[in-house]
Amino acid sequence: PVLVVDFGAQYAQLIARRVREAQVYSEVVPHTATAAELLARDPAAIILSGGPASVYAEGAPAMDPALVEAGVPVFGICYGHQLLIRALGGDVEHTGGREYGRTEVQISGTGGVLHRELPGRHPVWMSHGDSVTTPPEGAVVTATTDVSPVAGFEDTARRFAGVQYHPEVAHSPHGQEVLRRFLRDIAGIRPQWTTASIVDDQVAAIRARVGEAHAICGLSGGVDSAVAAALVQRAIGDRLTCVFVDHGLLRAGERTQVERDFVAATGVNLVTVDARERFLDALAGVSDPEEKRKIIGREFIRVFEQAERDLKARGDYRFLVQGTLYPDVVESGGGTGAANIKSHHNVGGLPEDLQFDLVEPLRLLFKDEVRRVGLELGLPETIVHRQPFPGPGLGIRIIGEVTANRLETLRAADAIAREELTSAGLDSDIWQCPVVLLAEVRSVGVQGDGRTYGHPVVLRPVSSEDAMTADWTRLPYDVLERISTRITNEVSEVNRVALDVTSKPPGTIEWE
Ligand code: XMP
Repeated sequence: PVLVVDFGAQYAQLIARRVREAQVYSEVVPHTATAAELLARDPAAIILSGGPASVYAEGAPAMDPALVEAGVPVFGICYGHQLLIRALGGDVEHTGGREYGRTEVQISGTGGVLHRELPGRHPVWMSHGDSVTTPPEGAVVTATTDVSPVAGFEDTARRFAGVQYHPEVAHSPHGQEVLRRFLRDIAGIRPQWTTASIVDDQVAAIRARVGEAHAICGLSGGVDSAVAAALVQRAIGDRLTCVFVDHGLLRAGERTQVERDFVAATGVNLVTVDARERFLDALAGVSDPEEKRKIIGREFIRVFEQAERDLKARGDYRFLVQGTLYPDVVESGGGTGAANIKSHHNVGGLPEDLQFDLVEPLRLLFKDEVRRVGLELGLPETIVHRQPFPGPGLGIRIIGEVTANRLETLRAADAIAREELTSAGLDSDIWQCPVVLLAEVRSVGVQGDGRTYGHPVVLRPVSSEDAMTADWTRLPYDVLERISTRITNEVSEVNRVALDVTSKPPGTIEWE
């Protein structure tokens, strides 16, 4: 692999993603890993990430000088650029000159390998206080700025290079090309990490792990569990059984999407458990949001455990498939060992004493790779590009008690909103658009000749990168108008449509 050493910036994961976009496999490792540990992985190259610190700050994360003695290609970025320069005998100083944000670099001489034939001046994204003042002996300076005399350097004979700017961010438009050139032309790595190779590798790994045993996968209707299941199905065929719990809190068409479209695309064995009444009974009389979540989580586990016992009685179901993604793995410490069951399942979390070995075929993948694998495996776009939907489903979008009638009302309004957003081509502009039914609020309206006394629904369109923060999406008025007109005409209980114009923070995305 290409190892991206994380010096504490939020950029390391992004660098790893960019390396993979250049079709080279990469992983993030903490800066506390020793040179011996890194070299034991037999890396094709090492990339030193940016970091928040000054190389002179007390306790600033350091780089083991042995790294540059091992004959492995090394690329430094920002803070990593400065560490590498120092390890090679160059100088980094507090010059007082800082660069933050958009900056123009100037190509030096021919630009070397990394900057050759790029525009003589072009924008890059900078974020540093200290500057490299003297390049190491034998290195060529390939780029400069007004503040940084060594904004780019390379030593192609020893296969070292670095840039002061952040090539991984979109604000550095030639950054991806620079990264690609380092990997291909300086490190000499052949691009081999393609979607097809990911599928082949994972299928082989799953076969080796599961052997002749059987596996269970809980499907939520979401992307991750669907792609994980499709991979395992490709590996072990009929020895996988998927369990889909219909808790009655799904949106219109979601059960069909799993039962018909997913099964048609994969040929997977599917058991659907119809638990709609059970969930409604358990939720009767409850309107507190946390209480609802707890009940839904608890009931989900009970239903899933029953399905699991039924299967175990029929075969050697020893494995449980989970759709854990690489960012979760990195964030929970990046362990490569066996994971214990975490409570990241879509609904409530699975119980801790579950007697299963885990299969996590997406453990090494980023979300965009998961989607590409899904398409490679023939899953429909509707599943692969599905927007996030909370595990407790419509249960936390009805403000007040959840009842069958209210679910029907909300499902109808939600389906209209989704239909109109899709036909206006807005799906890729929004992260998600919850529709919320204010079931305990009534307002007066007039329809035809009569007075109505119905409920409002709220549209909550948001734009976001990761759901941690979000902004309300400025939807075109004509689309809002169509949604509003259709909902008030077609959904009898609803006589008013409101728009939520709150960012997150302070509002969360969901209302409960
Ligand atoms: P909030 O409302 O916290 O939501 O801003 C952030 C993202 O998480 C989703 N969400 C959930 N997903 N179980 C889930 O699987 C939950 O209980 C849950 N609550 C919120 C929400 O849809 C948004 O994408």
